Amino acid sequence: MSESSNISPISHIKSSFKLTLAIETSCDDTSVALVRSDGEVIYLLSSNQDLLHLPYGGVVPEIASRNHTLSLLPLIDHLLKLNNITSDNIDVISVTNRPGLVGSLLVGLVTAKTLSVLWKTPIIGVNHLEGHLLAPWLKDEKYRPQIELQKAFPSLVLAVSGGHTHLCEINGIGQYKILGQTVDDAAGEALDKFAKELGLGFPGGAKLDQWARQGDPTAYQFPKGLKNQGLNFSFSGTKASGLRQLEKMSTEEINFEIHNLSASFEKDVIDVLYEKLELAMSLKPYKSVAITGGVSANTYLRLKADQLSKSSKIPVLIPPLKYCTDNAAMIGLAGLMNFINGKVDDQSLAPRPRSYDSDFIVSAK
Ligand code: KG4
Ligand code: ZN
Repeated sequence: MSESSNISPISHIKSSFKLTLAIETSCDDTSVALVRSDGEVIYLLSSNQDLLHLPYGGVVPEIASRNHTLSLLPLIDHLLKLNNITSDNIDVISVTNRPGLVGSLLVGLVTAKTLSVLWKTPIIGVNHLEGHLLAPWLKDEKYRPQIELQKAFPSLVLAVSGGHTHLCEINGIGQYKILGQTVDDAAGEALDKFAKELGLGFPGGAKLDQWARQGDPTAYQFPKGLKNQGLNFSFSGTKASGLRQLEKMSTEEINFEIHNLSASFEKDVIDVLYEKLELAMSLKPYKSVAITGGVSANTYLRLKADQLSKSSKIPVLIPPLKYCTDNAAMIGLAGLMNFINGKVDDQSLAPRPRSYDSDFIVSAK
């Protein structure tokens, strides 16, 4: 279980900001948070299921939903008690209801709807990707975005994780234009698959990153998907080529070459992400740029983002890892922003494997 406390528990009650209890259970992380409408994260509490899915080499939906059932209520209970919060202090319950694994979403949703009835508190369903897109504007004692959310638009955000690879333009809350997305595998999915075949377990993106640090990124070349072809991404060719390379090698050879293989594969995936980000930046004058999602933990990507931050005239936001990977704080911020804009849901709110068509504008290819 990971915990992250930021400000004195009761100071927010005196403030005029709205407070949300946020719940995220769209995949395999059970996460709850208290977030204030200025983006301040009062407390974030998450329980990770990686070890439970490790033997299967991927997320097993039934195991994920069963463990959300076991973890969620104790986490909420702990969160409220630790912060001396009662239902009276909570203005709205924010819960991820799309997109994701339906069985997993259902656990968060049923819990949120029950609390909404019991506490007579409004509920708002949040799109998980909207959460990732707004995560760079969360705040705490150690992290402050260089530009306020309301002043940051139009903003260009690269959201890259095990489930998404999206280049988005944000023009306001609820105004998200997808400029580019993957046509096949997500970047994290490709990294995880290659890492798994290298024997690094699942999800192996972080391990691959560690091994890559001592490797030569030019030792092997894998094709870069859709290079120089617009803002969409493709990683299936890079992945297939990487796996073919491993098939040609013995286990001893792979073990001997593991650093070079990791560094080369990582470079080809990350370089494409970065090239497309730079291309999108050159097409329009943005007021800010942000990188988010689990893959943004990658050392090489962060290095490139740091360089961009130094050379760019506009703020480049790279939030701390706890706000990049799946977490309830980002769901809280997205929920509150929509709530303040007048949106609210009711007991008919249902889990959905996909986004609503109206959630995003997809720009013409
Ligand atoms: O955002 P996230 O926690 O969950 C999803 O929404 O998918 O992202 C998880 C992804 C996994 O593919 C994982 O391997 C990858 O992020 N990841 C990394 C690193 N840390 C996590 N990929 C590359 N380098 C890392 N350091
Ligand atoms: Zn995610």
